[in-house]
Amino acid sequence: MTRRPLISGNWKMNNNHYEAIQSVQKLHYLLPKETLEEVDVSIHPPFTDLRSVQTVIEVDEMEFALGAQHCHWEDSGAFTGEVSPAFLEKLNVAYVVAGHSERRELFGETDEMVNRKIVAIQNHQMVPIMCVGETLDEREAGNTETKVLGQVVAGLDGRSNEQIASLVIAYEPIWAIGTGKTATAEDAQTVCAAIRGKVAEIADSATAEAVRIQYGGSVKAANATELMGQPDVDGALVGGASLDPDEFARLIQFSTP
Ligand code: PGA
Repeated sequence: MTRRPLISGNWKMNNNHYEAIQSVQKLHYLLPKETLEEVDVSIHPPFTDLRSVQTVIEVDEMEFALGAQHCHWEDSGAFTGEVSPAFLEKLNVAYVVAGHSERRELFGETDEMVNRKIVAIQNHQMVPIMCVGETLDEREAGNTETKVLGQVVAGLDGRSNEQIASLVIAYEPIWAIGTGKTATAEDAQTVCAAIRGKVAEIADSATAEAVRIQYGGSVKAANATELMGQPDVDGALVGGASLDPDEFARLIQFSTP
């Protein structure tokens, strides 16, 4: 099976809704139609930009998918400051990041919370992008796979094979996020292959073949071709480089075969 590549721009807490509209329009202008026929692109702006970006994408019929960076697992209730997955579905959000390392580290998200979010996101017909990754200490202690595969198992707990096949896993070594350090293509391939192997174990081999696995952590136009050339790397979750439409457009084009 050939998996369709998915390049996701995670803007984090950058770009207000005016800047967001300009950035998406510029990115679309820079990308040839043929590229967007070969690769899925999702844009994950801050919550306050979602409605504006949704409108631009739909009115101009852009081939971009709208993404969110996070959500709560409940549909409504007394959760001050949180955002419901039902509200995201109403905005035609297609992909929602769950368990980004910044959420885990800075906002105390646990594997159990990530699992509840994945259930909620899928209940609302959206695709979770579940992030997993090791710290530098864990890597140096030789615990990369223990950590990463443990997060995979915990995050996917209770999901059916079909549900697992339709989601996205993003391998993001924490030491490579926003640092300019990238895992070598070989390292990214090794861990992504191990993740796929674990999915085969907890589901089956057809599910493992179908699930899309992204690499994330200082991906830029200059290293996209090599990373995306790896057999088990099906896309990229891109932070810093997605903020500059010129760079992101090059990266997206370099990601296609
Ligand atoms: P980066 O961020 O590309 O800036 O390293 C990736 C991410 O956090 O998703």
